This record gives sequence, structure tokens and C-alpha cells, in this order.
Amino acid sequence: MRAFTVLGIETSCDETAAAVVRGHPPGPGEILSNIVLGQAADHRPYGGVVPEIAARAHVEWLDGVIERALADAGVELSGIDAVAATAGPGLIGGVMVGLVSAKALALAAGKPLIAVNHLEAHALSARLSQGLEFPFLLLLISGGHCQLMAADGIGRYRLYGATIDDAVGEAFDKTAKLLGLPYPGGPQIEALAERGNGRKFALPRPMLGREDADFSFSGLKTAARHITTGAGFGPASKADLAASFQNAVVDVLRDRIHVAMQYFRTEYDYSNNNLKLVVAGGVAANCAIRRMLDELCGVEGFGLYMPPPALCTDNGAMVAWAGLERLACGLEDRLDSAPRARWPLETLGVS
Ligand code: KG4
Ligand code: ZN
Repeated sequence: MRAFTVLGIETSCDETAAAVVRGHPPGPGEILSNIVLGQAADHRPYGGVVPEIAARAHVEWLDGVIERALADAGVELSGIDAVAATAGPGLIGGVMVGLVSAKALALAAGKPLIAVNHLEAHALSARLSQGLEFPFLLLLISGGHCQLMAADGIGRYRLYGATIDDAVGEAFDKTAKLLGLPYPGGPQIEALAERGNGRKFALPRPMLGREDADFSFSGLKTAARHITTGAGFGPASKADLAASFQNAVVDVLRDRIHVAMQYFRTEYDYSNNNLKLVVAGGVAANCAIRRMLDELCGVEGFGLYMPPPALCTDNGAMVAWAGLERLACGLEDRLDSAPRARWPLETLGVS
């Protein structure tokens, strides 16, 4: 198959990002440039992402980020095969900024537009980094999403389980806020947990032992809040709570993934050598979670595929790659494609 070169634009949350990627399915692809402008500092005073601030920042920075992505890659707009942008799910103001820019570029350059589902971009990031055949079990753990699904092919995903309340990254962020730590809280909790005793506080393990593969994290966060407001909790206890919280998250994730692994194994009559777990999303940067995944995959006979941390958190390269995969399947989108705040991956449809 011939190699395609695709420009990808990502603006669905608090990263303004653009990248140029070259290659063909099933990967790996070559990342010619990958520019990510994080807005964490803009949102930190508020303890979380403020949609209006994010949208304005995307408007301000996106043109420059795209220009740099093309310049770093050493390609002109005329030299790319398609313009891809996240069309959802995400904060609608930001999604509109990225999608409208992509439409303008596609129209001006006479190139196809690819409207990318952000979750599919995360799902395919391991094909970009390592090259990987379908099917695989996918764990998506980020600030906005927490799901386990079977990835059967481009546009073909089946949900095994998802969070019924908070996403796991959100639980990290909210617990960090309780402890007075700045946004984003995940890396802060992880660092603090290293100095703490993870057995100090008995936190709940929501959903443990259930037959489905759903998650729930709000009870864990609430239990952490009760501890922080209880008698005897002081600054000296913060590291212990961070460690106890992280341990509980690891236990819950392990149990839920274990259930999904059994579903996946039953559905795919493959020898154990072909079972694969792909992990994507910002929370996959957590070392305690990575260690648990390594151990669990060893026990269950799954190969573990984790993109490098820079491709786990939101970025333009994964969007460019997802666009490239769809382009290779002959899937182009119309210039009137609508941005979507909600766009579940399993409704993408077989294409
Ligand atoms: O995928 P991502 O960059 O953005 C989306 O939500 O789409 O994920 C960001 C989330 C935040 O909630 C952040 O706290 C969490 O990933 N995170 C971590 C770590 N690094 C980032 N959570 C736990 N441990 C980490 N080391
Ligand atoms: Zn994301």
C-alpha cells in the first residue's frame, strides 16, 4: 500500500495540537512533526478545564501551531493527502475551532477532510507507535473517559464496560484538589503517593467482583473527602491518602480489566499468543498502573501495548494517524460535517 501524509488537528480539550504523520495501516507510522501547546497553566487557578477559556485559547494559538507542524515536517499544504481534525467528542467550543480550521484548509488546498472521533484516535495510537493488527482489547483511561472495548477494525468497536460516573483521570484530579494539589492532579498524586503508606486508609473498591466490566469512581472520591474533613487529618497524612487512593484505583482497574479479558478471550478463538491489550489515555502515564498492567498481562497471557506517554495524552499525531487510517479505507467526510460534544465510539458504525 502506498504511504499517505496527513495533517491532524486536536482541540477537543485543553491541548492545542497539530501534527503531520506519514505511513499506511497497520503502522507503525512516521511522525514528521507533533506540536502540542498545553493550556494547563491557564486553567490551574480554577482547578479544572474551563470550556470558555479553552475555546478562546484554541482560537488564539491554533493557526501558529498548524504552521509550525507543517514547517517542522518540511511539507507544504499541497504535499499532504488529507486534513484530519477531531470532530468530537469533547468541549464543543474547542471542537468547533479545530474542525472549522480543518475545513478551511481542506477547501483551500483541495484536499479531503477527515472528521476524526477523538476516542478512535486514542484507540489507534498503538498502531501508530508500534504497528498492530486488529482485533485487540482496548483500555481507554483519561480525564474524560474510562472504558474497556474490543477493537475489531476501523470504525468497529464494541463496548464491554465504561464508568457509570467519573472517569478515572477525573477521580485523580478531584482527589488531588481535595489534597490542595494543582491541576492536573494525576501526576501530583502519583508523586505524593511515593512517600505514603498505601495501607493507611481503608478506601472502598467500587464494583469489585461484578460480572460486568463497568467502573465507578465517585464513591472513592467521596470516601477520600470524608477522610480529609475528618478529625485528625493533617498535612502529614496527605501522602498516605494519596497512596491509599492510588492503591484502590489500581485494584479496581485490575479487577475490571480482568473481567473484560475473559469476555475478549471467549469471543476470539485465538491462541494466547495473539491476545493483545492496548492502553491509551493520559492516566496510562501512571507507573503504578503500568506495573499492574504488566503483571496482569503476564498472568493472563496478553501482550501489552502502550504508546509512549507523549502519545497517550492528547496530541495531534494520533488524530493525523486516525485520519490516515480512514483515508486508506476510502472514508472521507463532507465539508458540512458537524462537531459533536457526544460521540460514543461504539456508534461509529462499520464503514
Ligand atoms: O488523555 P488526557 O491527556 O486528556 C483527556 O482527558 O482526554 O488525560 C488527562 C488525564 C488527567 O485527568 C490527568 O490527571 C491524568 O490524565 N494523568 C494521570 C497521570 N498523568 C496524567 N493520572 C494518574 N497518574 C499520572 N501519572
Ligand atoms: Zn483524550
